[in-house]
Amino acid sequence: MDEPILVTGGTGTLGRFVVARLLDAGRTVRVLSRHAPPSDTAPDTRQWAVGDLEAGTGVAEALRGAGTVVHCATASNGKKDVAAMAKLLAAAKEAGTRHLVYISIVGCDQVPFSYFKGKEASERLLEESGVPYTILRATQFHDFVRAIFDGTSKLPLMLAPGFRYQTISAAEVAGRLAELAIGAPAGRVADMGGPEVREATEMARVYLRAQGRSKKVVALRLPGKTFRAFRDGGHLTASHAVGKGTFEDYLAEKATAAR
Ligand SMILES: NC(=O)c1ccc[n+]([C@@H]2O[C@H](COP(=O)([O-])OP(=O)(O)OC[C@H]3O[C@@H](n4cnc5c(N)ncnc54)[C@H](OP(=O)(O)O)[C@@H]3O)[C@@H](O)[C@H]2O)c1
Repeated sequence: MDEPILVTGGTGTLGRFVVARLLDAGRTVRVLSRHAPPSDTAPDTRQWAVGDLEAGTGVAEALRGAGTVVHCATASNGKKDVAAMAKLLAAAKEAGTRHLVYISIVGCDQVPFSYFKGKEASERLLEESGVPYTILRATQFHDFVRAIFDGTSKLPLMLAPGFRYQTISAAEVAGRLAELAIGAPAGRVADMGGPEVREATEMARVYLRAQGRSKKVVALRLPGKTFRAFRDGGHLTASHAVGKGTFEDYLAEKATAAR
Protein backbone atom coordinates (compact mmCIF):
# COMPACT_ATOMS: atom_id res chain seq x y z
CA MET A 1 0.00 0.00 0.00
CA ASP A 2 1.32 3.47 -0.82
CA GLU A 3 2.06 6.14 1.77
CA PRO A 4 -1.17 7.66 3.11
CA ILE A 5 -1.98 11.34 2.75
CA LEU A 6 -3.34 12.67 6.06
CA VAL A 7 -6.40 14.92 5.75
CA THR A 8 -7.19 16.86 8.91
CA GLY A 9 -10.84 17.90 8.96
CA GLY A 10 -11.52 15.04 6.54
CA THR A 11 -15.07 14.85 7.93
CA GLY A 12 -15.87 18.52 7.23
CA THR A 13 -17.54 20.31 4.30
CA LEU A 14 -14.28 20.72 2.38
CA GLY A 15 -12.30 17.82 3.81
CA ARG A 16 -14.84 15.18 2.74
CA PHE A 17 -14.40 16.26 -0.88
CA VAL A 18 -10.61 16.31 -0.51
CA VAL A 19 -10.73 12.73 0.77
CA ALA A 20 -12.98 11.72 -2.15
CA ARG A 21 -10.76 13.41 -4.76
CA LEU A 22 -7.61 11.78 -3.36
CA LEU A 23 -9.29 8.36 -3.30
CA ASP A 24 -10.45 8.98 -6.91
CA ALA A 25 -6.80 9.65 -7.76
CA GLY A 26 -5.92 6.23 -6.35
CA ARG A 27 -4.20 7.54 -3.23
CA THR A 28 -4.38 6.06 0.24
CA VAL A 29 -5.99 8.56 2.60
CA ARG A 30 -5.98 8.83 6.36
CA VAL A 31 -8.63 11.01 8.01
CA LEU A 32 -7.89 12.80 11.28
CA SER A 33 -11.05 13.32 13.33
CA ARG A 34 -11.91 13.75 16.99
CA HIS A 35 -14.48 11.00 16.55
CA ALA A 36 -14.52 7.33 15.61
CA PRO A 37 -15.45 6.62 11.98
CA PRO A 38 -19.18 6.51 11.22
CA SER A 39 -20.40 2.94 11.00
CA ASP A 40 -22.22 3.61 7.71
CA THR A 41 -19.01 4.56 5.85
CA ALA A 42 -18.74 2.58 2.62
CA PRO A 43 -15.66 0.39 2.57
CA ASP A 44 -12.74 2.06 0.75
CA THR A 45 -9.02 2.54 1.24
CA ARG A 46 -9.57 5.28 3.83
CA GLN A 47 -7.64 4.94 7.10
CA TRP A 48 -8.84 6.64 10.26
CA ALA A 49 -6.93 8.36 13.06
CA VAL A 50 -8.69 9.69 16.14
CA GLY A 51 -7.01 12.83 17.45
CA ASP A 52 -7.54 16.36 18.59
CA LEU A 53 -5.41 19.18 17.22
CA GLU A 54 -6.34 21.55 20.03
CA ALA A 55 -5.46 19.09 22.76
CA GLY A 56 -2.56 17.73 20.72
CA THR A 57 -3.68 14.15 21.32
CA GLY A 58 -3.30 11.47 18.65
CA VAL A 59 -1.55 13.87 16.25
CA ALA A 60 1.87 12.18 16.27
CA GLU A 61 0.21 8.81 15.61
CA ALA A 62 -1.90 10.30 12.81
CA LEU A 63 1.22 11.68 11.10
CA ARG A 64 3.18 8.46 11.32
CA GLY A 65 4.09 7.26 7.83
CA ALA A 66 2.20 10.09 6.12
CA GLY A 67 4.61 12.29 4.17
CA THR A 68 1.88 14.72 3.08
CA VAL A 69 -0.80 16.46 5.12
CA VAL A 70 -3.78 18.45 3.85
CA HIS A 71 -4.84 20.64 6.77
CA CYS A 72 -8.59 21.35 6.49
CA ALA A 73 -9.55 21.16 10.18
CA THR A 74 -10.88 24.31 11.81
CA ALA A 75 -12.41 25.14 15.15
CA SER A 76 -14.07 28.16 13.46
CA ASN A 77 -12.19 30.29 16.00
CA GLY A 78 -9.05 32.17 15.02
CA LYS A 79 -7.10 31.75 18.26
CA LYS A 80 -7.88 28.04 18.55
CA ASP A 81 -6.93 27.50 14.90
CA VAL A 82 -3.53 29.14 15.40
CA ALA A 83 -2.90 26.98 18.47
CA ALA A 84 -3.92 23.88 16.49
CA MET A 85 -1.59 24.85 13.63
CA ALA A 86 1.27 25.27 16.12
CA LYS A 87 0.64 21.78 17.53
CA LEU A 88 0.33 20.27 14.05
CA LEU A 89 3.61 21.88 12.93
CA ALA A 90 5.51 20.74 16.03
CA ALA A 91 4.35 17.18 15.38
CA ALA A 92 5.01 17.49 11.63
CA LYS A 93 8.62 18.55 12.24
CA GLU A 94 9.04 15.61 14.58
CA ALA A 95 7.53 13.23 12.02
CA GLY A 96 9.57 14.63 9.11
CA THR A 97 6.49 15.69 7.10
CA ARG A 98 7.59 16.52 3.56
CA HIS A 99 4.59 18.59 2.43
CA LEU A 100 1.82 20.39 4.33
CA VAL A 101 -1.00 21.81 2.23
CA TYR A 102 -3.05 24.50 3.94
CA ILE A 103 -6.41 25.96 2.94
CA SER A 104 -6.67 29.63 3.78
CA ILE A 105 -9.07 32.42 2.92
CA VAL A 106 -8.85 35.16 0.30
CA GLY A 107 -8.28 38.51 2.01
CA CYS A 108 -7.31 37.07 5.40
CA ASP A 109 -4.70 39.83 5.48
CA GLN A 110 -7.19 42.52 4.38
CA VAL A 111 -10.25 41.99 6.57
CA PRO A 112 -9.59 42.45 10.32
CA PHE A 113 -12.12 39.79 11.32
CA SER A 114 -10.80 37.61 14.15
CA TYR A 115 -11.26 34.35 12.23
CA PHE A 116 -9.42 35.80 9.21
CA LYS A 117 -6.62 37.06 11.47
CA GLY A 118 -6.24 33.48 12.70
CA LYS A 119 -5.87 32.26 9.13
CA GLU A 120 -3.20 34.88 8.42
CA ALA A 121 -1.32 34.01 11.62
CA SER A 122 -1.56 30.29 10.77
CA GLU A 123 -0.15 30.98 7.29
CA ARG A 124 2.76 32.83 8.89
CA LEU A 125 3.48 30.00 11.34
CA LEU A 126 3.54 27.55 8.44
CA GLU A 127 5.76 29.75 6.27
CA GLU A 128 8.26 30.15 9.10
CA SER A 129 8.15 26.53 10.27
CA GLY A 130 10.64 25.01 7.88
CA VAL A 131 8.02 22.39 6.88
CA PRO A 132 7.68 22.42 3.06
CA TYR A 133 4.26 23.83 2.28
CA THR A 134 1.61 24.92 -0.16
CA ILE A 135 -0.99 27.55 0.75
CA LEU A 136 -4.19 27.99 -1.24
CA ARG A 137 -6.54 30.84 -0.39
CA ALA A 138 -10.16 30.42 -1.49
CA THR A 139 -13.26 32.59 -1.24
CA GLN A 140 -16.30 31.58 0.83
CA PHE A 141 -17.97 28.29 -0.08
CA HIS A 142 -21.56 28.26 -1.36
CA ASP A 143 -22.36 26.12 1.73
CA PHE A 144 -21.21 28.91 4.04
CA VAL A 145 -23.60 31.51 2.63
CA ARG A 146 -26.43 28.98 2.40
CA ALA A 147 -25.92 28.22 6.12
CA ILE A 148 -26.23 31.95 6.93
CA PHE A 149 -29.44 32.11 4.90
CA ASP A 150 -30.84 28.97 6.56
CA GLY A 151 -30.72 30.99 9.77
CA THR A 152 -31.77 34.46 8.62
CA SER A 153 -34.59 33.24 6.34
CA LYS A 154 -36.50 32.10 9.45
CA LEU A 155 -37.13 35.75 10.38
CA PRO A 156 -40.19 37.61 9.08
CA LEU A 157 -37.79 39.88 7.15
CA MET A 158 -34.75 38.10 5.75
CA LEU A 159 -31.43 39.69 6.67
CA ALA A 160 -28.40 39.42 4.38
CA PRO A 161 -24.97 41.00 4.86
CA GLY A 162 -24.76 44.41 3.18
CA PHE A 163 -21.81 43.43 0.98
CA ARG A 164 -20.84 41.11 -1.86
CA TYR A 165 -19.69 37.51 -1.90
CA GLN A 166 -17.81 35.50 -4.52
CA THR A 167 -18.84 32.06 -3.37
CA ILE A 168 -17.24 28.92 -4.76
CA SER A 169 -17.96 25.20 -4.87
CA ALA A 170 -16.17 23.41 -2.00
CA ALA A 171 -15.84 20.39 -4.32
CA GLU A 172 -13.87 22.48 -6.82
CA VAL A 173 -11.57 23.83 -4.11
CA ALA A 174 -11.08 20.25 -2.90
CA GLY A 175 -10.12 19.16 -6.41
CA ARG A 176 -7.40 21.81 -6.50
CA LEU A 177 -6.18 20.89 -3.00
CA ALA A 178 -5.92 17.22 -3.99
CA GLU A 179 -3.93 18.20 -7.09
CA LEU A 180 -1.62 20.35 -4.93
CA ALA A 181 -1.19 17.58 -2.36
CA ILE A 182 -0.13 15.12 -5.05
CA GLY A 183 2.36 17.68 -6.43
CA ALA A 184 5.47 19.17 -4.87
CA PRO A 185 5.40 21.96 -2.25
CA ALA A 186 4.66 25.19 -4.15
CA GLY A 187 4.52 27.92 -1.48
CA ARG A 188 1.60 30.32 -1.79
CA VAL A 189 -0.27 29.51 -5.02
CA ALA A 190 -2.78 31.62 -6.97
CA ASP A 191 -6.00 32.41 -5.13
CA MET A 192 -9.18 30.58 -6.07
CA GLY A 193 -12.39 32.59 -6.33
CA GLY A 194 -15.93 31.72 -7.33
CA PRO A 195 -17.32 32.52 -10.78
CA GLU A 196 -19.43 35.54 -9.79
CA VAL A 197 -19.22 38.51 -7.44
CA ARG A 198 -22.76 39.20 -6.22
CA GLU A 199 -24.54 41.22 -3.59
CA ALA A 200 -25.56 39.00 -0.67
CA THR A 201 -29.08 40.44 -0.90
CA GLU A 202 -29.36 39.18 -4.49
CA MET A 203 -28.07 35.75 -3.40
CA ALA A 204 -30.69 35.73 -0.62
CA ARG A 205 -33.43 36.23 -3.23
CA VAL A 206 -31.94 33.39 -5.30
CA TYR A 207 -31.99 31.20 -2.17
CA LEU A 208 -35.64 32.01 -1.46
CA ARG A 209 -36.67 31.49 -5.10
CA ALA A 210 -34.99 28.08 -5.16
CA GLN A 211 -37.33 27.09 -2.31
CA GLY A 212 -40.40 28.64 -3.94
CA ARG A 213 -40.50 31.28 -1.22
CA SER A 214 -40.48 35.05 -1.27
CA LYS A 215 -40.07 37.66 1.45
CA LYS A 216 -38.53 41.06 1.90
CA VAL A 217 -34.72 40.92 2.03
CA VAL A 218 -32.97 43.57 4.09
CA ALA A 219 -29.26 44.42 3.82
CA LEU A 220 -27.60 44.36 7.23
CA ARG A 221 -25.03 47.14 7.59
CA LEU A 222 -22.80 47.45 10.65
CA PRO A 223 -20.38 50.11 11.83
CA GLY A 224 -16.68 49.36 12.21
CA LYS A 225 -13.59 48.53 10.18
CA THR A 226 -14.30 44.83 9.75
CA PHE A 227 -17.63 45.46 8.06
CA ARG A 228 -16.07 48.24 5.98
CA ALA A 229 -13.34 45.87 4.79
CA PHE A 230 -15.98 43.32 3.73
CA ARG A 231 -17.99 46.08 2.03
CA ASP A 232 -14.81 47.18 0.21
CA GLY A 233 -14.40 43.64 -1.06
CA GLY A 234 -11.22 42.67 0.82
CA HIS A 235 -12.45 39.04 0.72
CA LEU A 236 -13.00 39.04 -3.06
CA THR A 237 -10.69 38.13 -5.93
CA ALA A 238 -12.39 39.10 -9.18
CA SER A 239 -9.11 38.58 -11.05
CA HIS A 240 -9.11 34.90 -9.97
CA ALA A 241 -12.74 34.00 -10.71
CA VAL A 242 -11.73 30.45 -11.66
CA GLY A 243 -14.62 28.54 -10.06
CA LYS A 244 -17.25 27.14 -12.42
CA GLY A 245 -20.26 26.17 -10.32
CA THR A 246 -22.62 29.05 -9.50
CA PHE A 247 -24.71 29.51 -6.36
CA GLU A 248 -27.78 28.47 -8.41
CA ASP A 249 -25.98 25.27 -9.55
CA TYR A 250 -25.12 24.49 -5.93
CA LEU A 251 -28.68 25.02 -4.68
CA ALA A 252 -30.06 22.87 -7.52
CA GLU A 253 -27.61 20.05 -6.65
CA LYS A 254 -28.61 20.26 -2.97
CA ALA A 255 -32.30 20.12 -3.87
CA THR A 256 -31.75 17.07 -6.10
CA ALA A 257 -29.72 15.32 -3.39
CA ALA A 258 -32.48 15.97 -0.81
CA ARG A 259 -35.15 14.29 -3.00
N1 LIG B 1 -16.31 27.63 4.80
C1 LIG B 1 -15.82 28.51 3.92
O1 LIG B 1 -16.53 29.28 3.27
C2 LIG B 1 -14.32 28.53 3.69
C3 LIG B 1 -13.77 29.34 2.69
C4 LIG B 1 -12.38 29.33 2.48
C5 LIG B 1 -11.56 28.54 3.29
N2 LIG B 1 -12.14 27.78 4.27
C6 LIG B 1 -11.28 26.95 5.11
O2 LIG B 1 -11.52 25.60 4.78
C7 LIG B 1 -11.28 24.78 5.92
C8 LIG B 1 -12.43 23.81 6.11
O3 LIG B 1 -13.61 24.54 6.33
P1 LIG B 1 -15.00 23.76 6.42
O4 LIG B 1 -16.06 24.78 6.19
O5 LIG B 1 -14.94 22.52 5.57
O6 LIG B 1 -15.00 23.34 7.95
P2 LIG B 1 -16.06 22.43 8.74
O7 LIG B 1 -17.07 21.85 7.81
O8 LIG B 1 -16.53 23.23 9.89
O9 LIG B 1 -15.18 21.22 9.26
C9 LIG B 1 -14.31 21.41 10.33
C10 LIG B 1 -13.47 20.15 10.49
O10 LIG B 1 -12.48 20.40 11.47
C11 LIG B 1 -12.38 19.26 12.29
N3 LIG B 1 -11.96 19.71 13.62
C12 LIG B 1 -12.49 20.71 14.36
N4 LIG B 1 -11.82 20.84 15.52
C13 LIG B 1 -10.85 19.90 15.51
C14 LIG B 1 -9.84 19.52 16.44
N5 LIG B 1 -9.69 20.14 17.63
N6 LIG B 1 -9.00 18.51 16.11
C15 LIG B 1 -9.15 17.85 14.93
N7 LIG B 1 -10.08 18.16 14.00
C16 LIG B 1 -10.92 19.17 14.30
C17 LIG B 1 -13.76 18.62 12.29
O11 LIG B 1 -13.58 17.22 12.44
P3 LIG B 1 -14.31 16.29 13.55
O12 LIG B 1 -15.56 17.00 14.00
O13 LIG B 1 -14.57 15.02 12.80
O14 LIG B 1 -13.28 16.16 14.62
C18 LIG B 1 -14.25 18.93 10.88
O15 LIG B 1 -13.90 17.89 9.99
C19 LIG B 1 -11.04 25.75 7.09
O16 LIG B 1 -9.66 25.88 7.31
C20 LIG B 1 -11.61 27.07 6.59
O17 LIG B 1 -10.98 28.19 7.16
C21 LIG B 1 -13.48 27.74 4.48
